Amino acid sequence: MKTSFAIVVASAAAVMGHGFVTNFTTDAKYNQGFLLDYYYQKVNTGSFPSIAAWYAENLDSGFVAPNAYQTADINCHKNSAPGALTATVKAGGTLTFSWGPNGWPHPYGPILGYVAACDGDCSKAVKTNLQWVKIQAEGIDYASQVWASQKLVSQGGKWTLTVPASLKAGNYVFRHEIIALHGANSPNGAQNYPQCFNIAVTGSGTKTLPAGTLGTALYKADDKGILMNPYTTITSYAMPGPTLWSG
Ligand SMILES: *[C@@H]1O[C@H](CO)[C@@H](O)[C@H](O)[C@H]1NC(C)=O
Repeated sequence: MKTSFAIVVASAAAVMGHGFVTNFTTDAKYNQGFLLDYYYQKVNTGSFPSIAAWYAENLDSGFVAPNAYQTADINCHKNSAPGALTATVKAGGTLTFSWGPNGWPHPYGPILGYVAACDGDCSKAVKTNLQWVKIQAEGIDYASQVWASQKLVSQGGKWTLTVPASLKAGNYVFRHEIIALHGANSPNGAQNYPQCFNIAVTGSGTKTLPAGTLGTALYKADDKGILMNPYTTITSYAMPGPTLWSG
């Protein structure tokens, strides 16, 4: 038993090469991310540390492929479940996500941010009911041909999302996502890396979120910004997902 556990851990480490959010800050306060070790802790001991980041079984540090866009996995990654805790940020404040374990390796693709309201405590959120509202969408800078993902690489794997200043106080799930496009010229070749976090927004914002989009309705495998050739000069990028809400 002990031996097979060691082998499972070793093989998980061997195939790393993509990534996940290892920790994040809410208005500069440090919060633990969901580590792959926690999965093995859960399997072996029945529990793992209580954190605000969502549990997920992306055990190869991998992705959700386009052929799973119409499954619940697209919400917050594979077999995800809400974190037990909730972090806190002020409306207008910032969330900074750190991708690890070794920064971020894929320089092609957009980075998106979404938020969904929880009906009560986010630790009880039902992922298939979450209505996602897009609040960040950074694609490619046409002049420099630098993708958001390349910026993430050059920022050492750190990415900041500003919480809309007008957002009403309450409990929300924030969904931070990289879509890696290095294989996007083949069908089912794009790679989505969604990560979710329970975060309570404080402050005196007055705006409730508009109607959002269920995870399974966010993307289609043949969306123009999903199935495309990234190895050419991009002059117009069709940002995947619903329209942006600016607050
Ligand atoms: C946060 O995550 C980054 C990226 O994995 C890592 O380099 C850094 O050491 C982590 N910070 C702490 C305090 O663990």
